[in-house]
Amino acid sequence: MALPLASREHPGFFLTFEGLDGSGKTTQLLRLVTWLHAQGLEPVQTRQPGGTLTGDKIRALLLDSKSANLSPLTELAMMFADRAQSIQEVIAPALDSGKIVVCDRFTDSTEAYQGGGRQLGSEIVLDLHRLICGNLQPDLTILLLPNLQASLARARRRNHKHTASTGNDENRFEAETDPFFQRVYDQYRAIAAREPLRVVAIEGDHSIEVVEARIIQAVASRLVQANLIKSNS
Ligand code: TMP
Repeated sequence: MALPLASREHPGFFLTFEGLDGSGKTTQLLRLVTWLHAQGLEPVQTRQPGGTLTGDKIRALLLDSKSANLSPLTELAMMFADRAQSIQEVIAPALDSGKIVVCDRFTDSTEAYQGGGRQLGSEIVLDLHRLICGNLQPDLTILLLPNLQASLARARRRNHKHTASTGNDENRFEAETDPFFQRVYDQYRAIAAREPLRVVAIEGDHSIEVVEARIIQAVASRLVQANLIKSNS
């Protein structure tokens, strides 16, 4: 088996997007991917849970509101099972070949949702991350933290529409209570305070264009530092 990624150098760039459901992160991720293509780069785009055949099955189990009574530890283990597969199949090969990987959610989500929301604590999440993911760290994390209530209202509206049109039920997390999401939000802020170099947090409500410009500015400066783009592009 390949060595855990964190214990060796890779020539790629690992970028993650984080935030609550309805925070606009997927919209912003897609805009950033378009911008990266315009810079002549070929980013690999993926998401968690999901992004592999096995991961998509794990995602369906995790998000289906019929998966009632899933214990917090089962949920935690499934998130890491998905992530191990994603690293092995998608992320590590792409980073090894010098690509930029743009991932919609990573271990910060587990720390925020299972550690904070489900109150399992950060330690078990970070321990599992070391054991199962070789402690692979993103080079940069964009964390979107708009107003909590507005995010939740957006997520609930969108998922019910999605279920009505596709029959896919991804509503299990949206059914959680407001205190659950407040804990997720607080844990995200704690991660950003703990790791200010890795995590760029964009707080408050701004237009899509304003958030996009801030993200591009943050990403461009890191890609220049990593010699992946030139400073005037
Ligand atoms: P998504 O709709 O942004 O893809 O996220 C799926 C849901 O899964 C979202 O409610 C957050 C949740 N989630 C966790 O609870 N823990 C995790 O580790 C990940 C990756 C997602």
